[in-house]
Amino acid sequence: MNLITIDGPSASGKGTISALVAKKLGWAILDSGALYRISAYAVQTKGINPEDEGAVAAVVSDLDIQFKTSEVFVDGVEVSDILRLESTGKMASKIATYPTLRQALLDRQRNFIHGVAGLVADGRDMGTVVFPQAPLKIFLVADVNERANRRYKQLVDKGIEANFDEILVDLKRRDEQDMNRAVAPLKPAEDAVVIDSSYMGIQEVVEAILGAWADCI
Ligand code: C5P
Repeated sequence: MNLITIDGPSASGKGTISALVAKKLGWAILDSGALYRISAYAVQTKGINPEDEGAVAAVVSDLDIQFKTSEVFVDGVEVSDILRLESTGKMASKIATYPTLRQALLDRQRNFIHGVAGLVADGRDMGTVVFPQAPLKIFLVADVNERANRRYKQLVDKGIEANFDEILVDLKRRDEQDMNRAVAPLKPAEDAVVIDSSYMGIQEVVEAILGAWADCI
């Protein structure tokens, strides 16, 4: 089975690295974080009470979600920029603690493996819950200061005003929430290959993953 899972904390570089690995192998991508962000967007725009777990899970079941290269459409509306907002990420992290929401998203995530040459799935629980059968599971970590630094530079490069200390506090809070939730917490699968990318370049990480895949098949 052509499947690599890449899990890890926020801003560990999973998205960029998954895209490069998938491109190199000619495979598709599942950005599972986007599904949680889409759920957050739906909660925020449809007037759903975010404290109401049942209502949050229900709203997601009916959404028409389309991923098209770098754009995401929800019920026909292009939402790519809204999904990247910090406020959307925060709401995503909050509602991602709801077991019923996670359950509602499970089949959508598993469907990504059908009809593709291979799949790189990135998120928090790809190797532990969604695709425990994956032949290669990567757990990508990086020092939180380094991650905050990367996120800060990313924003500044895009011309967006950013505050390093706020980013750092926010990342720590997000890590805490993702690692300590009762359902599908962020943790490496028992058979995961852990890569610490704190002092590695992107290409170096991509090569390490491709090397691990070559050893796997
Ligand atoms: O990866 P990204 O930052 O886009 O994910 C947004 C939020 O969605 C994360 O903070 C996390 O709480 C949640 N998430 C999750 N499980 C996944 C992917 C993301 O709980 N597989």
